[in-house]
Amino acid sequence: MNMMLRRLSRAATAGLVAAAALTAAAHSAEAADTLGSAAAGQGRYFGTAVAAGHLGEADYTATLDREFGSVTPENEMKWDATEPSRGTFTFASADRIVDHAQSRGMDVRGHTLVWHSQLPSWVGTLGASDLRTAMKDHISGLMGHYKGEIHSWDVVNEAFQDGGSGARRSSPFQDKLGDGFIEEAFRAARAADPAAKLCYNDYNTDGVNAKSTAVYNMVKDFTSRGVPIDCVGFQSHFNSNSPVPSDYRQNLQRFADLGVDVQITELDIEGSGSAQAADYTKVVQACLAVERCTGMTVWGVTDKYSWRSGGTPLLFDGNYAEKPAYDAVLSALGGSGGPGEPGGPGEGTATCTATYTRTADWNGGYNGEVTVTAGSEPIGSWTATVTLPARQSVSALWNGTAAFNGNVMTVRPSWNGALAAGTSTTFGFTVTKNGSDAAPAVGACTAS
Ligand code: G3I
Repeated sequence: MNMMLRRLSRAATAGLVAAAALTAAAHSAEAADTLGSAAAGQGRYFGTAVAAGHLGEADYTATLDREFGSVTPENEMKWDATEPSRGTFTFASADRIVDHAQSRGMDVRGHTLVWHSQLPSWVGTLGASDLRTAMKDHISGLMGHYKGEIHSWDVVNEAFQDGGSGARRSSPFQDKLGDGFIEEAFRAARAADPAAKLCYNDYNTDGVNAKSTAVYNMVKDFTSRGVPIDCVGFQSHFNSNSPVPSDYRQNLQRFADLGVDVQITELDIEGSGSAQAADYTKVVQACLAVERCTGMTVWGVTDKYSWRSGGTPLLFDGNYAEKPAYDAVLSALGGSGGPGEPGGPGEGTATCTATYTRTADWNGGYNGEVTVTAGSEPIGSWTATVTLPARQSVSALWNGTAAFNGNVMTVRPSWNGALAAGTSTTFGFTVTKNGSDAAPAVGACTAS
């Protein structure tokens, strides 16, 4: 299904979308009582990996919908799931996750385009020239399907070996195309969806070590030569053999200093009780201390479905009860007592205003921009509504997440929720006119 059809399909589920708007409103009312809203109050997203097969379980989706602001399909966007035979794309499971997320105002991370694992066997049989074509076709086919709908993509995953050498890992791509395959993949990805942030993602790169330094040198080379890269993902799978490194923050910062965003992409920490909680606190604090650490994703909702379920590495136990690690993360994110919350700055008095400008105009469409400005108190988050004239539809949105109820678009921040008193942020959107050139109406801005 292409994006237009995906949009039409979503519009057809009007009841679900209306419910989504209500969910978004409930989120803003609850403000910093959940992981997602507390992180938004710090200008970050807090996400989780999701498996399509669990979306039918009421407790799973209730926890997901209540707590998280971003989702990463755990397996459903991988090459074996999306292009099992050459040129035949299958998106049903990934679509299920994306539709679920969007209908509830959550962002989506894309994982992953080029990886040596979960690769269908046909890829490994190709010669170099054919493999290059297949890699680019896979990137454009998968990213094209979700164009404008994914905030960040893991373009290349785990291309470096563990150990001290800093060498590249053997894979069909590395072995047949050489080091340049990574750069080629990023260039193809930028062409496929210019709005998506393009990340390199890996594990055991969380502290300063030979592997992370090899990745660092690659990113430095890319940024110096203008190879399109926007972010680096740090998987952050921790246990007693691979504990949270003491130089985690310094490592995140040195990448950020190259001019890229950093994201914690697959966080889980084996353990339990206060020790596990303390480790989670260290991770959250490290991200919050690095301005360009834009968000964190835990690798699953509940311990019982974790890839390391025996190590109980997540924030909710097998019965969806909040663990001490959950309380620690919420507290480290500012939780209750954050801006606009009881005990926090701006309690009960936070306000904002929203103003609209048309920033670009062409025959079939236009770009609109809304400036959200905090009142005389700092705000932790905001919600703004935009009512579209009849026939017009929104085809893209940036710096915000949207829930639609008929022609009313309710926008919440993606990373830009927290505003100091009197300061502003903007979100923008592209509208298809469908014959109507009227201006949209910007309604109430609600601060929390
Ligand atoms: O879907 C099949 C099912 O049909 C079959 O009956 C069953 C029997 O084993 O396997 C199912 O596939 C499994 C798949 O998860 C979906 O559940 C695979 O065996 C299993 O290997 C696969 O594991 C995933 C793993 O990546 C594969 O490498 C984990 O769920 C997933 O959490 C894990 O995620 C990776 C990231 O993508 C990259 N970083 C490391 C991280 C942890 O390994």
